[in-house]
Amino acid sequence: MTAGSRPVAVLVGPMGAGKSTVGAALARSCGVDLCDTDEEIVDRSGRSVPAIFQEDGEAGFRTLEAEVVADVVATHSGVVSLGGGAVMTPAVREALVGHTVVYLRIGAEAGFARVAHSDRPLLAAPNPAERYAEVLADREETYRAVASLVVDADRDPQVVVDDILARLASRTESEQE
Ligand code: S3P
Repeated sequence: MTAGSRPVAVLVGPMGAGKSTVGAALARSCGVDLCDTDEEIVDRSGRSVPAIFQEDGEAGFRTLEAEVVADVVATHSGVVSLGGGAVMTPAVREALVGHTVVYLRIGAEAGFARVAHSDRPLLAAPNPAERYAEVLADREETYRAVASLVVDADRDPQVVVDDILARLASRTESEQE
């Protein structure tokens, strides 16, 4: 992390949108580091995400998450990927103002297929596919509201990265005109 610098991009979107995979490839293409806020939470707390949910509840996880996101977006100069629910916390949305936020959009079926066999606490429900679709429906408007760019994520990660890079470059050009 470099104090006082801004992230190249902050990736948001639902579980399974590819925030970590696309984030790593985007960071590589830009020659910068990726900071995955879920990993940062695990490093700082010394606990796994499911353990935090179990011990402190979702509210406890969201408090830690908001602190970490605010720190990371204020100090990390590379690519940042946020956990899928982070943008639902008002303090996180405030921390994102003025940053380049990329919404990796994916449909419920394709997104769920990518995380069906994971240990995501939010999907510990009698019908995880239905739960995923409900969570996505609840959050979709917020993802759009915080995003500077919306990118279709149901594609090969490198294609997604190339699309993000092209669109970031065209934004920079139009800002200079
Ligand atoms: C969550 C998504 C997870 C993780 C936690 C909660 C969510 O991150 O932050 O399990 O609320 O959607 P990913 O989006 O990286 O799966």
